[in-house]
Amino acid sequence: MHIAMIGTGYVGLVSGACFADFGHEVTCVDKDEAKIAALERGEMPIYEPGLDDLVAANVKAGRLKFTTALPPAVKVADAVFIAVGTPSRRGDGHADLTYVFKAAREIAQALDGFTVVITKSTVPVGTGDEVERIIRETNPKADYAVVSNPEFLREGAAIRDFKHPDRIVIGSSDPRAREVMQELYRPLYLNRAPLLFTERRTAELIKYAANAFLATKITFINEIADLAEKVGADVQEIARGIGLDNRIGAKFLHAGPGYGGSCFPKDTLALLKTGQDNEAPLRIVEAVVAVNDARKRAMARKVAAALGGDVRGKTVALLGLTFKPNTDDMREAPSLPLITALQDMGAKVRAYDPEGMEQAKAMLEKVAFCKDAYDCAKDASALVIVTEWEEFRALDFDRLKATMAQPVLVDLRNIYPPEEVARAGFVYESVGRARK
Ligand SMILES: NC(=O)c1ccc[n+]([C@@H]2O[C@H](COP(=O)([O-])OP(=O)(O)OC[C@H]3O[C@@H](n4cnc5c(N)ncnc54)[C@H](O)[C@@H]3O)[C@@H](O)[C@H]2O)c1
Repeated sequence: MHIAMIGTGYVGLVSGACFADFGHEVTCVDKDEAKIAALERGEMPIYEPGLDDLVAANVKAGRLKFTTALPPAVKVADAVFIAVGTPSRRGDGHADLTYVFKAAREIAQALDGFTVVITKSTVPVGTGDEVERIIRETNPKADYAVVSNPEFLREGAAIRDFKHPDRIVIGSSDPRAREVMQELYRPLYLNRAPLLFTERRTAELIKYAANAFLATKITFINEIADLAEKVGADVQEIARGIGLDNRIGAKFLHAGPGYGGSCFPKDTLALLKTGQDNEAPLRIVEAVVAVNDARKRAMARKVAAALGGDVRGKTVALLGLTFKPNTDDMREAPSLPLITALQDMGAKVRAYDPEGMEQAKAMLEKVAFCKDAYDCAKDASALVIVTEWEEFRALDFDRLKATMAQPVLVDLRNIYPPEEVARAGFVYESVGRARK
């Protein structure tokens, strides 16, 4: 099948490369000329493990191309995916659909022969109807069907997630479109990834319900962590104790600094808007958003508390800036409000991240960016683990102690056993466990 992927970001590039790997002919389109030029030179515009090899292999095989020219790619396509961004709209938190609608108009003008137009971007319920209307108005003669096919991949494990999904959701009642979708995903279907066919609106809402549920699970365990700290219980053991119950499940029960990233914050907000607009307010999700927001600055107070309540004039070193490991994505990373709050309290901030520093530099001021964990810890009164990159899991405590102003470790990801850190002579503060 011929595929045009409109939007070559985290989702578009990974999906495009994976579809090419399944044997389809894929053209990835983006209006960002620098991004396309980099891809044509074989350079990845994002950090995602395994992506460079996958892209290189499929470009070499002639199945994957990059362009800024949308019309020729759409003209020959059996399936056109819309994978552009849907950020929060400034001011009201609604999903900003400008890019989706603009792409729909451009696609409409180029359609030739029966084509399935698929929204892969996360879009509020009813957006598929609007895309269908835009295409009809722009090109009344077009023969097309609009399908919702939300994406569930996680950055950092995106290729694996795309190739081994828990499920594939396809929202369409058009039999021709369903056939095309089945063909596109046939390699996965053969591997028995469940293909879930629903109405389009249901598919759109499944994506938001899934993200809101996961955000709720994280926020729930974070609140339990706060309580555990107060009453002398251990949240790690609580998470294990409840996670072994199959009805609950062990995943997304890691207490930490609050969720961030390119999806949960904007998707929970957009879902709240949809709820309000339809007079079906989602009180649980409202609480989740509020609790998570408050948590970001609370983490700065936690750092201050580990330093006796005052960070003014002290140096605080942060390990990890991205919202999770194995990505360079800094969108809505918990490190950002944490740094602002620490700076507001008068701290000097040093930071190191294995992949995220380039993006972080554009978003942060007055931060000293360092070359590794030990350089970062230099003269620091507290070392704070914000993102659990593998390389922070086996730090040399003696080396850290020798370079730091005082041995204080604040571990916002609970990656160390408290006794081990205490034995190394550090004051150790983690999340939902007693201070050592
Ligand atoms: N990042 C994730 O982990 C993830 C996971 C699941 C779903 N999603 C959803 O997928 C969508 C895309 O997310 P992303 O993180 O890949 O975004 P992104 O910002 O990384 O990429 C979007 C790309 O679309 C391009 N673009 C915008 N308008 C265009 C147009 N008219 N023509 C061509 N290119 C255009 C931009 O230049 C950009 O490169 C969002 O709706 C997001 O919510 C993201």
